[in-house]
Amino acid sequence: MTNDHDSLVSILALPGAARFSVRLARAMHVQASAVGYHDFPDGESYVRIESEVASHDVVIVGSLDHPNDKLLPLVFLADAARDLGARRVGLVATYLAYMRQDTRFRPGEAITSRSFASILSAHLDWLITVDPHLHRFASLSDVYSIPATALHASAELGRWIADNVSSPLIIGPDEESRQWVDGIAATARAPSTVLSKFRRGDTDVVESLPNLEGHRSRTPVLVDDIISTGETMIAAIRHLREQGSPPPVCVAVHAVFGDAVERAIRAAGAARIVTANTILHSSNAIDLVPLMADAIQNRQ
Ligand code: R5P
Repeated sequence: MTNDHDSLVSILALPGAARFSVRLARAMHVQASAVGYHDFPDGESYVRIESEVASHDVVIVGSLDHPNDKLLPLVFLADAARDLGARRVGLVATYLAYMRQDTRFRPGEAITSRSFASILSAHLDWLITVDPHLHRFASLSDVYSIPATALHASAELGRWIADNVSSPLIIGPDEESRQWVDGIAATARAPSTVLSKFRRGDTDVVESLPNLEGHRSRTPVLVDDIISTGETMIAAIRHLREQGSPPPVCVAVHAVFGDAVERAIRAAGAARIVTANTILHSSNAIDLVPLMADAIQNRQ
């Protein structure tokens, strides 16, 4: 999407993303269009695009946390934009759901990553998201058949840490976190280490002991892509505290967790919990609007 098309770009917000979409539109110097949503008493959804989108490049923006509630409104919105003459309809999913069930762990399970991706791919022309949980899939193109871009918030997380934590030690709670730990540590100009995690169930996580030798005077900063049940952070915090570490700062991209999880993480000994604004949450302190605005504008 080039500057030539700026006047023909419309930003449409998914439910819950109105403020984010206004800020994104402002950063891109384009129009944020109002969308009306309503739930009928029987649970069906009503969607109305309240401004002109004919010939526009439509950018739908929002988080896909609680995806079951948002998927149909998203499909209805994308189809309506196309019906109304939009030239292309893309999605900026600040949080992309259904990336973790990426294989059949037990016989008979649905591989929901694939099903979800095929639904979105059927209704959209392109996708941009940030730090999707890519574990067994090497890239989004393994499951999405439309052009799909994964942005990374490592630099933004690293800058927040550099500006707000004195003498940090960056700690990844599991091997999967190694992919972003190094980038965060480089931006924060800090040393780093990665723990080993063994998950025995949704809410039962065991961590290896961290090697803190040589870093005793530093502030531990646990970094992860997602905090959901909080068990990964809680297990890591407990082990750090048992090793005599000061209370760690917990930094994550996606705040999938609710209030009870936040209380449990604090009770385990977190000094602070900070997230990026990909999912609206009181812990949001790292702004990714500029990252996403640049990515949309640089689309070819
Ligand atoms: C897993 O590999 C991810 O990177 C996160 O560590 C995980 O999704 C966090 O989930 P929870 O908060 O439920 O432990």
